[in-house]
Amino acid sequence: MENNKNTSASLHVESATGAAGATLPVLDGSMGPSVIDVRTLSQQTGMFSFDPGFGGTAACTSSITFIDGDEGVLLHRGYPIEELALNASFTETAYLLLYGALPTSAQYHDFCTDMYTHRMLNEQIRNFFNGFRRDAHPMAILCGTVAALSAFYNDGLDVSRAEARDLSARRLIAKIPTIAAWAYKYTIGEPFIYPDEAMPFSENFLHMLFARPGNHYKVNPVLARAMDRILILHADHEQNASTTTVRLVGSTGANPFACISAGIAALWGPAHGGANEAALAMLESIGTREGIPAFMEKVKDRNSGIRLMGFGHRVYKNFDPRAKILQATCHEVIEELGLDRDPLLDLAMELERIATEDEYFVSRGLYPNVDFYSGLILKALGIPTSMFTVLFAVARTVGWVSQWKEMSEDPAGRINRPRQLYVGEKKRSFTPMKDRD
Ligand SMILES: CC(C)(COP(=O)(O)OP(=O)(O)OC[C@H]1O[C@@H](n2cnc3c(N)ncnc32)[C@H](O)[C@@H]1OP(=O)(O)O)[C@@H](O)C(=O)NCCC(=O)NCCS
Repeated sequence: MENNKNTSASLHVESATGAAGATLPVLDGSMGPSVIDVRTLSQQTGMFSFDPGFGGTAACTSSITFIDGDEGVLLHRGYPIEELALNASFTETAYLLLYGALPTSAQYHDFCTDMYTHRMLNEQIRNFFNGFRRDAHPMAILCGTVAALSAFYNDGLDVSRAEARDLSARRLIAKIPTIAAWAYKYTIGEPFIYPDEAMPFSENFLHMLFARPGNHYKVNPVLARAMDRILILHADHEQNASTTTVRLVGSTGANPFACISAGIAALWGPAHGGANEAALAMLESIGTREGIPAFMEKVKDRNSGIRLMGFGHRVYKNFDPRAKILQATCHEVIEELGLDRDPLLDLAMELERIATEDEYFVSRGLYPNVDFYSGLILKALGIPTSMFTVLFAVARTVGWVSQWKEMSEDPAGRINRPRQLYVGEKKRSFTPMKDRD
């Protein structure tokens, strides 16, 4: 963060209480828009900035992820997401996000070996699962059980120590897939499958999801690669709602397992992590190709309130670099599994074609987004829709712990405490109950 051009913004405010002025420094990052530093605004003017939803506010400095929505750019530690998705593994991407550089082969080997040993859960944690109803949503199980980890791993909880922060970060990345897979097994009534310390990340995860005692489940490498890509593409996305939640909770010095549990709760909201589930529900409601024209009529009618789920993006207005990669992966998976005759996938491919040709979509820059393809791939892999957001959480844990670590190590860090514009009653005197009727 620099102010090397000595630039500043001058503000002149006329309000009912008089006029005030402020000179505010302009700070430049290494890429992207500069920011006006409003930290002294209230001292200079007696007023706060107002930005509900934080759409115009940079809440922190960060060196982890850069997004340029207009240009369709997503970089992690400077590396384009396309290059990472095509060349790196999810574990390599995790190392990059956590430590800022791609690992050497020796560093990668040590990281994998260490991470794989952290996959096991304390055996007592099994008991937590029995406390949930069998029909509990797996996100509820994940959220509760991750918070419960704080009761087991006290040695990593002095977050002022770098080794403790690192240990907690590794434990979270390694253990959350085990909890996620067990949440699934619990809801379908199958026995838990223990993690395999010899398997790479996605192979182990698929194995814990789909193996059963007595069946020799062999992980298909094309499907493991597809899972790895989905995880890489969801690993981090700058200061989104769940990441901001993790940073906010973390700013109080709360224990890291509780911080990540809060992030999981934020991700669970349908406005955040639920879009691929919604895209698939929409396909199921359309049913077959024949249902498309009537559905499209409704989508184009502004008054219907119906949108084509899995199309468009708030930040990426021209294209989403992640969607392009998953489009290719989706076609690979469909071919590998011989699913080209599946009616739902056939319907999805027809919608994809229409959206790239139809004037309504083309003129508004609407194209299938990452959720459209990830929903289709997960469905093809046999993962139930209730697990989609759980998978997102498995991937995003890497971003959350990297951002939490960065926040904890920021010397300028302080408890997050926004202010408000009060619009309630002015001061008034208490009326005793007998005088209120
Ligand atoms: C993601 C989303 C919220 C972004 O919305 P936004 O940036 O606010 O876009 P706008 O609401 O300004 O839309 C611009 C225009 O495109 C239309 N539009 C946007 N997304 C649309 C969609 N999915 N289906 C149909 N029309 C859509 C809007 O109706 C609007 O049309 P108008 O100019 O005639 O009024 C929106 O595209 C959407 O709801 N998509 C479906 C949900 C989804 O897949 N979300 C996951 C995103 S990763």
